[in-house]
Amino acid sequence: MDSFDVIVIGGGPGGYVCAIRCAQLGLKTACIDASPTLGGTCLNVGCIPSKALLHASHQLHEARHNFAKMGLVCEPPVIDWKEMQKYKNTTINENTQGIEFLFKKNKIHYINGHAHFISTSEIQVDGKNYTSKNIVIATGSETSSLPGIIIDEKQIVSSTGALSLEKVPTKLVVIGGGVIGLELSSVYSRLGTEVTVLEFQKSIVPDMDQDISKNLIRILKKQGINFQTNCAVTSVQKSKNKIKVNYNDNKKEIEESIETDIVLVATGRKAYSGGLCFEGIGGVINDKGMIETDNHNRTNLSSIYAIGDVTNGPMLAHKAEEEGILVAETIAGQNSQINYNHIPNVIYTNPEVASVGMTEETLKVTNKDYKVGKFNFAGNGRAKLVFSSSGFVKLLADSATDRILGCHIIGPSAGDIIHEVCVAMEFGASAQDLAMTCHAHPTFSEAIKEAALSCGDGPIHS
Ligand code: NAI
Repeated sequence: MDSFDVIVIGGGPGGYVCAIRCAQLGLKTACIDASPTLGGTCLNVGCIPSKALLHASHQLHEARHNFAKMGLVCEPPVIDWKEMQKYKNTTINENTQGIEFLFKKNKIHYINGHAHFISTSEIQVDGKNYTSKNIVIATGSETSSLPGIIIDEKQIVSSTGALSLEKVPTKLVVIGGGVIGLELSSVYSRLGTEVTVLEFQKSIVPDMDQDISKNLIRILKKQGINFQTNCAVTSVQKSKNKIKVNYNDNKKEIEESIETDIVLVATGRKAYSGGLCFEGIGGVINDKGMIETDNHNRTNLSSIYAIGDVTNGPMLAHKAEEEGILVAETIAGQNSQINYNHIPNVIYTNPEVASVGMTEETLKVTNKDYKVGKFNFAGNGRAKLVFSSSGFVKLLADSATDRILGCHIIGPSAGDIIHEVCVAMEFGASAQDLAMTCHAHPTFSEAIKEAALSCGDGPIHS
């Protein structure tokens, strides 16, 4: 029987990163994945393909709306959906093959198949048994739907089906104004689809800082996306070519319906631990299907760990990666830690949204004295020249100590520029530390320096 120091179940961002770090630390490592390709949801049907479609559709927007303003005169491009899909699939393949290359380079034993537990140190895949001193569960998450709404991935789709529709639909109804709903609404709206988002809460991305949420809905409405907030979808009726989505308008207290070609269900994902037989060996799975862990990602069984979407915390690829590294280093005897307060969150709409740390709403609840430093991209030269000056940087700092508590950005490249704030927070920096740091001109990052200045004597450019 093959035996290892570590077996990682799942080859998504949590699992493959964990396997690579284990191998780097000298541990004999295997990674088991049931899908035909490595990379999990993120690379195959999540982050990477959605960003490819967001990029392509953004280029179309630029060609249609901004090229002529820069003296680039051409016919607006037409959409070749098959070619766009090919580009998306090539991007996926390059990334998934990249992981296979890294596995070979790091001498990781890759087993393709569905794993289940035989004991706390034994795994079976397709009738073959493997033993390991440590096992890491990195099985991720799966789409969840609403009661009575069955996803067929043709007319009623999850994000997976929405990335590979047969054609660009005329009408799309999106249930859920969260991250997936907004990113895919942006893709199809830019491609010419009439998009309506139905959101249960009073605001879209309800857990984000409300300044961001209010501005994002205003900007996306201006881009042509329709929104109905405060409404609960109750049922979906399918006929041959059309679909009727029924919902309660909770503000007007009436029942409404909307007809569409395609419905995207984007109401969240759930932990995936199916078929593992983890409970059969004494493992605990909670009522949400999640495997709970301690702060070193150890489950109730001491040689078994769980990381990423299958365990507590935000369902984010980069959170899973950090946990993968933490577990590898813990197994190797190192003392690693993750600061969950400093994990950034990004929405790849245009403009992008990025946040880290506490929101103003959470600060109000904690009764902490804080100050707000805000700077609009309207005062940022670089943002203006790329026609992307709506939005702002909002920095929250402790009134007494000036220590940075959170940052919320809506604006160009928000997902990239947020990281200087993440690093600053990791080092316990004050707003003044950011304000006193020289920022290259002209960059979008200058807006962060200006927001930091706003926490003190005031910004220069507003
Ligand atoms: P989500 O939890 O972000 O949003 C779901 C939304 O659906 C919520 O706003 C909720 O209020 C709404 N909703 C729930 N029931 C409803 C109903 N009956 N009618 C109308 N609205 C309803 O979930 P989402 O967008 O599906 O994303 C799943 C996970 O994937 C999230 O944890 C997200 O962070 C992650 N993800 C992250 C991305 C990124 O980092 N850029 C990209 C895509 C997904």
